[in-house]
Amino acid sequence: MVAGRDYRVGGPEAPRAAAAGLVEAEWFRPPIDPERLRQLQVRGNARAAVDTAAWLGLLAGFGYLAFISLGTWWAIPAFAAYGALYGGAGDSRWHECGHGTAFKAKWLNDVVYYLASFMLLRQPTLWRWSHVRHHTDTIVVGRDAEIIFPRPSSPLSVAQVFLPVLNVPRMVVRTAKHALGRIDDEARSFVPADELGKLRWESWAYIAVLSGATAWSVAAWTIVPLLYVGLPTIYGAWLMAFFAMTQHAGLQEDVLDHRLNTRTVYMNPVLRFLYSNMNYHVEHHIFPTVPYYALPALHQEVRHHLAPAAPNTWSAYRDIATTMRRQWRDPSYDTPRDELPTPPGGGRAFVNTGHNVWAGDHHDGMFDLGPAGEPAPGGGRRVDVGDDTYALFRLDDGTLVCSQGRCTHGQAHLAEGAVMGDEVECPKHNGRFDLRSGQAVRRPATVPLALYPVEIRNGRVVSALQAQPAPSALQPQTKSVPT
Ligand code: FES
Repeated sequence: MVAGRDYRVGGPEAPRAAAAGLVEAEWFRPPIDPERLRQLQVRGNARAAVDTAAWLGLLAGFGYLAFISLGTWWAIPAFAAYGALYGGAGDSRWHECGHGTAFKAKWLNDVVYYLASFMLLRQPTLWRWSHVRHHTDTIVVGRDAEIIFPRPSSPLSVAQVFLPVLNVPRMVVRTAKHALGRIDDEARSFVPADELGKLRWESWAYIAVLSGATAWSVAAWTIVPLLYVGLPTIYGAWLMAFFAMTQHAGLQEDVLDHRLNTRTVYMNPVLRFLYSNMNYHVEHHIFPTVPYYALPALHQEVRHHLAPAAPNTWSAYRDIATTMRRQWRDPSYDTPRDELPTPPGGGRAFVNTGHNVWAGDHHDGMFDLGPAGEPAPGGGRRVDVGDDTYALFRLDDGTLVCSQGRCTHGQAHLAEGAVMGDEVECPKHNGRFDLRSGQAVRRPATVPLALYPVEIRNGRVVSALQAQPAPSALQPQTKSVPT
């Protein structure tokens, strides 16, 4: 086996990635009809509620079967199914609710997120920010904390992902350190300073629950309580690893195109239920504002711009095994992906989603931002004026809002995000802004948006593009025009 790279976040590869322009960069995005994207981004509570109830119902059912089978061989398959639902299927619930896309109601996303985080022994705040970084710098070495299969992955290291008898104890030790206020450098590199305090109380909550289960097991002199709480994270992890391996394993590192480092795999309905449709993983990475239940439809919209999906899980695993075997001898080896369609616009690394781009001139101190009838209610439109980028939104009540074009958190065009009520959700990390005040209302976005007053003149939207004062000094209705 050949020595690999240093995958530590913030390690020696981090400055190299920055120098190569791989940090917080703009990524490829295929064209899609903005109205269709708007439809696909719509959230509801019903579908996720049914799926969550089915998941928890199955978990409770197999837990009950395991209980009444104690002392018989039937307890083994019952606990195996319980563990897979707990430490395996819990992963995609954690993921979708962490993005805030599964349910429309924020509190429902939060409840399931915290529950699933505990099942996976992931500190909620730490992993929320770790996943933000994963979406910012996907599989960029030295930056992405969620590279599960560093090159070259040996059979032993792969086995440790499927049965994390070492990793889970390491996570428990890390949790204990965080409870004592000893926050490690990796966590400090992506968790904002004002959120570090949460790591401490979240760690204490985990320790309290795990200690309770352990004390119960010791007092009753039986392992059964721990088989229900704590140990399923280990013995059920194989299902999480089974799905996770299909996401990025063996694909390219240090690229700015999810078609090169992420894999979509066709799976049957049972696997898609267990995995919350995350088999459409390329689509999820490019359009994280689309909830899991709309990913199959999104796939139909954009698949002609993507690499062909693996026809089934078996085929994906065969490719992964072949690639990893070669990478064991040659870590620089990549799975060829020369069948990628050429994006419209030639070799550009970023393609907007079809919103009109208009380079304006100004008259009487006002810039013409386009026809008064655009965008439609609930829609957004990117407006480029010279080198500056703005976003024009129309709220459901017809109010037009012009904001700065790029998210205050990172490299994303807000016009490509989802307008929900009076808020826009960023297309990169699901941060949200109140379009009436500019205030950031969902992390990771924290810095307010600049808003620009607009007027309607002669059937055109015009603006001096002079930013309003800071949002906190604004009255909500003063920066937009009802039409
Ligand atoms: S780029 Fe991160 S929330 Fe917008």
